[in-house]
Amino acid sequence: MQSIKAEYAERGSEPHKLINAVPFDTPEPGAGEVLVELLAAPINPSDLLTLTGDYGVLPDLPATGGNEGVGKVIQLGAEVSGLEVGQTVLLPIGCGTWCSHLVASAKDLIPLPGQADPLQLAMLTINPPTASLLLSEVVDLQPGEWVIQNAANSAVGGYLVQLAAERGLKTVNVVRREAAVDAVKRQGAEIVLVDGPDLAERVAEATGKAKIRLAIDAVGGEASERLAACLAFGGTVVNYGMMSGEPCQVSPGQLIFRGITLTGFWLASWFRQASPEAQQQLFGDLIGKIAAGKLSAPVAATFPLSQVSEAVHAASQGERDGKILLVPG
Ligand SMILES: NC(=O)c1ccc[n+]([C@@H]2O[C@H](COP(=O)([O-])OP(=O)(O)OC[C@H]3O[C@@H](n4cnc5c(N)ncnc54)[C@H](OP(=O)(O)O)[C@@H]3O)[C@@H](O)[C@H]2O)c1
Repeated sequence: MQSIKAEYAERGSEPHKLINAVPFDTPEPGAGEVLVELLAAPINPSDLLTLTGDYGVLPDLPATGGNEGVGKVIQLGAEVSGLEVGQTVLLPIGCGTWCSHLVASAKDLIPLPGQADPLQLAMLTINPPTASLLLSEVVDLQPGEWVIQNAANSAVGGYLVQLAAERGLKTVNVVRREAAVDAVKRQGAEIVLVDGPDLAERVAEATGKAKIRLAIDAVGGEASERLAACLAFGGTVVNYGMMSGEPCQVSPGQLIFRGITLTGFWLASWFRQASPEAQQQLFGDLIGKIAAGKLSAPVAATFPLSQVSEAVHAASQGERDGKILLVPG
């Protein structure tokens, strides 16, 4: 049987020109392994940074794109227990998920509820835990407190709005364009503001001069300073994304006279230090919410794997209405 995978042999600033769907012989599962057929895999900003060579870890080349996704078990190797043919599974993180079929060790696969939307399940490994941990790992927030975030119409931003509300936290959501405001409100956000030089004044007015202790920054550049200016004395800006491509700017005045801290968050670092129990607890919680339709992200479009170049190009564009995902086609 023939399979296809989205492969690239070099990195560069226009990744859609470097990645192609190539055929390969479908592998046979060995002992303890299963053959999985892809159901869906998203294209995240980190995938694009991996293709351009700007991400924190880079695979050897040639490589298959994709860090997360969901599939269905279609063949069991010898000595496999606990998995059945037809079971929906979460693919191991970083395994090169943009391929129609892959062999994986059965112990590395997390079984998922088969009735849930595969597109939503495919997006669960990276962005939902990031949103959850940004709210819990940086500042010890109490119910009733405020947080502010930019790129609020991103997938992480939308999950964060939903999870914050569930925890009794209030969010100030910043986007870079008026047309994105309604999408964030549809996720349940009450305060959505368009970024600008007077952001701090508008935030103070919208929140009744609330004492905000945490700002969550996916953008960097001058946007970091604008978030810092919205914080109370001693507040923290946590940067977790580089959407502007610019270094985070936080002025000496914020750091010295207002006691602002600038720090970073990377999910990969959390995976390295969190106990298996903590990881299971987080993922169990998120799987339950996503399967129940209580936590979701908008989908802009799906592309068949054979059109991976077009899909990567679409995902590289700003001003999308949601995620781009690859499906087998
Ligand atoms: N540190 C971690 O562990 C971790 C984990 C997961 C994700 N992330 C990061 O989180 C961020 C969001 O990821 P995602 O998958 O949620 O993104 P996404 O859904 O693809 O959305 C991208 C967001 O970035 C905004 N954006 C694009 N270009 C921009 C620019 N030049 N200046 C300012 N904003 C810009 C978009 O706004 P428009 O709609 O207006 O274009 C949109 O809000 C990314 O930077 C990603 O790498 C980090």
